[in-house]
Amino acid sequence: MIITNNNEEKSQTQQEKPVEQNEHNIDLTLRPQQFADYIGQETVKKNVSIAIQAAKKRSEAIEHILLYGPAGLGKTTLANIIAREMGVGIKTTSGPAIERVGDFGAILTNLQDGDILFIDEIHRLNKSIEEVLYPAMEDHKLDIIVGKGPSAHALQIDLPKFTLIGATTRYGNLTAPLRNRFGIIHRLDFYSQENITDIIKRASTILGITIETKAAEKIAQCARQTPRIANRLLKRVRDIAEIREHAQITPETVAEAMGLLEIDHYGLEPTDRHILRTIIEKFNGGPVGVQTLATAASEEIETIEDVYEPYLIQIGFLERTPRGRMVTDNARKHINSAQK
Ligand code: ADE
Repeated sequence: MIITNNNEEKSQTQQEKPVEQNEHNIDLTLRPQQFADYIGQETVKKNVSIAIQAAKKRSEAIEHILLYGPAGLGKTTLANIIAREMGVGIKTTSGPAIERVGDFGAILTNLQDGDILFIDEIHRLNKSIEEVLYPAMEDHKLDIIVGKGPSAHALQIDLPKFTLIGATTRYGNLTAPLRNRFGIIHRLDFYSQENITDIIKRASTILGITIETKAAEKIAQCARQTPRIANRLLKRVRDIAEIREHAQITPETVAEAMGLLEIDHYGLEPTDRHILRTIIEKFNGGPVGVQTLATAASEEIETIEDVYEPYLIQIGFLERTPRGRMVTDNARKHINSAQK
């Protein structure tokens, strides 16, 4: 079967039309704007939809929401959908971007009742900001110190009834007082192959690309169960189709693109294989501490932990034990066969 950009098939996605594209705006264009277009994460969608409907019925702001899980699974997209479905504004920032208490105070006081404040990488908020956040979340109060020296005094300002949506790849790094102030907490999981295939077909329709189902499935296999990667690979495959003047994307087009990118059928990149090979060859398969591994593989610890490791664990190639990281038999087989 061939998926085309024929809009007849697309009842719930009527507004999606081929658009003027460039790399800069493409990712935003591909992001679903409403739950009806958001594929996968069924439990999160169901629960958050109920919370939205209930909050709307009570004419209240929705409770504070924490979304956690590996990068690229749609936390920011969900936050934007929640704002849209609530019919409220959204202000987006990130933990490391908020440096001073004064700046954070300005963000909070500029919100409107019901608005959403989205803080990405919330585990990277500094301690003094976090302390301002507690009363803001709990009582909608901003406690600030005005002036310096003997004339300094405490002031309390009422804040609008906003909703905080926090996103993090590191749930375990959040302090307990911050975690406990969220009423709704969800983990986003890696997507099924079927969901990723559907996301690729949907993105193809939006981009006006014709793609064979087998080709969409082949991209999905290489996409690390992650929509952001699926869409990135689709764009690279489209480049090949364009320069080869293929009218549609076939499995052969995908194979050529993946070969050029050195991505194998598990979705592993050269760095993944380098990490696995390092553990096998230098540490006899492990266990090896992440710090030692990072030094031996010439990678940052954070990059190993946040970018590579979650998927290697997900596919059963790597295990985290109290004594360090270990490769599995399946990883050994894969690396050995790749070397032949
Ligand atoms: N694009 C990126 N993530 C998506 C998702 N979960 N559903 C539909 N399209 C997407």
